[in-house]
Amino acid sequence: MEITNVSEYEEIAKQKLPKMIYDYFASGAEDQWTLRENRNAFSRILFRPRILVDVSKIDLTTTVLGFNISMPIMIAPTAMQKMAHPQGELATARAASAARTIMTLSSWSTSSVEEVNSTGPGIRFFQLYVYKDRNVVLQLVRRAERSGFKAIVLTVDTPRLGRREADIKNRFTLPPSLTLKNFEDLDLGKMDKTNDSGLASYVAGQVDRSLSWKDVKWLQAITSLPIVVKGVMTAEDTKLAVQAGVAGIVVSNHGARQLDYVPATINSLEEVVKAAQGKVPVFLDGGIRRGTDVFKALALGASGVFVSNIGRPVIFALAADGEAGVRKVLEMLRDELELTMALSGCTSLKQITRNHIITDADSLSKL
Ligand code: FNR
Ligand code: LAC
Repeated sequence: MEITNVSEYEEIAKQKLPKMIYDYFASGAEDQWTLRENRNAFSRILFRPRILVDVSKIDLTTTVLGFNISMPIMIAPTAMQKMAHPQGELATARAASAARTIMTLSSWSTSSVEEVNSTGPGIRFFQLYVYKDRNVVLQLVRRAERSGFKAIVLTVDTPRLGRREADIKNRFTLPPSLTLKNFEDLDLGKMDKTNDSGLASYVAGQVDRSLSWKDVKWLQAITSLPIVVKGVMTAEDTKLAVQAGVAGIVVSNHGARQLDYVPATINSLEEVVKAAQGKVPVFLDGGIRRGTDVFKALALGASGVFVSNIGRPVIFALAADGEAGVRKVLEMLRDELELTMALSGCTSLKQITRNHIITDADSLSKL
């Protein structure tokens, strides 16, 4: 079957993968309201296209923390990618480099930072989970630095794992043939099978629930890499993040896997962008499946650097077709974004404005 859009990979992945693994990748928390809303909210945003603009040349390039990338689309960190495909994170890293964009590697990857580095040149960020044992974190950050990673993406929405009921029912655990490769040598690479989600138990055992703003300072003191905080959903926390001197903010609800009944990220974006006042770049993830979604996010991002990150589309494409699948996902999103820009009368990302879209809030304010 010819693949014509990103979402089609999910069905193929579902057929190929064991139920326990597919469910882990696909699930959201509890009622999965936010999971649906992450998609539904995009469908309520409509376009106000401009016409008769010369769109024979369109520029999709942008800059993230000083690095030039080919388009405003990057790869979000997702854990344990070898459960999807034997090449896992290595395939994702190669596909990201080929598309000249940035991949963020999860702390809980099934390939190590060194292995990912050895796939060849590429701009990569490292996502960090903070362990109770700070020596573990210190060693990991050093290894990421030595392996050429360019930024630390600190995930701040996971003091405990969200309740994903499919994982509880399936007694989800990392298959014994795989390890959380970065932690193998520390004897923390395996996940026990428990009467719960094995991942939830692992998080409860290892992740530091006491993490707070003072630890952001600590992290800044131990590394010179820029620190991006991932999981900000409010203006209040945006202000605190700016005060803490972070290098960037990712508006994220963790793909609806943590707290259920938070708004769709696309609906929290404007609040965060306004509070950031252009002082730090703001990124977004959650439910991005179309070039039109990326355009809508750019329109709400208003000013400054602004990039969308994709999570599940990469995993499902990886499961369906390995590196080629991930390359195709990035190509399809790029092509769709370029077409959306052409049909909206925008030839560069800077030309995409708030006036190119209309949201529920806009319609209400006109009543
Ligand atoms: C994630 N996400 C995630 N985030 C993170 O900071 N570290 C991680 O290890 C993981 N692992 C992970 C696994 C799986 C299977 C999923 C689906 C998600 C969250 C991820 O970075 C991102 O926030 C969401 O995936 C974005 O939403 P979409 O694109 O999946 O809708
Ligand atoms: C997840 C963790 C690993 O969402 O971030 O499954």
